[in-house]
Amino acid sequence: MSKKKVYVVTGGAGFIGSNYIHFLFEKYGQIKVINLDKLTYAGNPENLSSLKNNPDYVFIKGDICDSKIVNQIFEEYKPDYLINFAAESHVDRSIGDAEDFIRTDMYGVYVLLEATRKYGLERFIQISTDEVYGSIESGSFTEESPLKPGNPYSASKSGGDRLAYSYFNTYQLPVIITRASNNYGPYQYPEKLIPLFVTNAMENKPLPLYGDGKNVRDWLYVKDHCTAIEYALKNGKLGEVYNIAGGSEMENIEITKLILQLTGKKESLIKPVADRIGHDWRYSLDESKLKSLGWNQEHRFIDAIKETVGWYMKNEDWWKPLKSGEYLDYYKKQYPEGTSLA
Ligand code: NAD
Ligand code: DAU
Repeated sequence: MSKKKVYVVTGGAGFIGSNYIHFLFEKYGQIKVINLDKLTYAGNPENLSSLKNNPDYVFIKGDICDSKIVNQIFEEYKPDYLINFAAESHVDRSIGDAEDFIRTDMYGVYVLLEATRKYGLERFIQISTDEVYGSIESGSFTEESPLKPGNPYSASKSGGDRLAYSYFNTYQLPVIITRASNNYGPYQYPEKLIPLFVTNAMENKPLPLYGDGKNVRDWLYVKDHCTAIEYALKNGKLGEVYNIAGGSEMENIEITKLILQLTGKKESLIKPVADRIGHDWRYSLDESKLKSLGWNQEHRFIDAIKETVGWYMKNEDWWKPLKSGEYLDYYKKQYPEGTSLA
């Protein structure tokens, strides 16, 4: 019998990482998954509670910047694949304080690449983001477009993205880089637009819409993101970048109104607040490269957003504890009472 493939998933207790681990176990019978996660405010082992008794799922609390623990994992589990989701991921927090972003999103990638250099791997997937290209007025970015990150989060992610490429170019490591657009789905920390607005609406709290609400994001269902990553891992060419788009571009005001409609709440809950500093206007990706390999989204936006809103409505026990003082204090500091552009 052939050996079980071993996946190291870093940042697997977060939003996309936990969805990806669920996806792997749903898709494959014969795999082992090692989840290395530091459990920052965004990491929640509850996302994977259904795997608690699965002997093929191993959770290790640890930091990707800690070479000792990373090397131990390579020595003990001899992974075939490493998918690096671990990151500080929230733009507003990076504007407040960038230090952890630079550490995890750049130095952490270096530690993982060095371990890969030492022990070897079949594939190293660096989960990057569409934000590395910066904002675009019209048209869409291809993988050849220049990088012009506009905030400390996206600049740190650009560093990790290009460092991963440099280890392919310099040491021939089997690196593939993916750049996805805005994800939505279950288990997203309620600081990001969709879970924040759905849960605020449920609590009859204001929905703080930045600026004029006309910034555009392209929404990608997290389950489609998971299939795209797996597709790139299995079919992608080493050293290449693959854009992963949602194909659902929308102004923030449009998605806000849709959330209110789906939660049955009034538009008077919308509260225009001061704009994000350096707010990227629009993200848009040309996804023809990955599609030409054969990948496609399986979910229609309207079905997936209904399912997502329904998930938050059904799972108050998951998000209520997360909307704790820590987040509210941060939010209050960022946008003091009375901040309004209305
Ligand atoms: P998230 O914030 O929900 O999860 C990040 C996870 O990483 C958490 O579990 C956290 O505990 C862990 N982590 C943070 N620092 C760590 C460290 N030093 N060592 C180990 N674990 C650490 O983020 P997400 O939204 O799931 O994003 C996952 C990845 O996908 C990130 O790399 C992000 O840049 C990228 N991405 C996200 C989106 C999106 O829309 N959310 C879109 C494109 C790309
Ligand atoms: O594009 C991919 C990126 O998408 C990922 O790389 C990031 O990790 C992820 O956080 C996300 O970044 P955004 O900044 O686009 O997502 P966020 O949910 O924070 O904001 C989406 C849009 O909504 C953005 O234009 C800012 C606006 N917004 C956000 C919040 C949290 C508001 O108007 N009000 C809010 O309270």
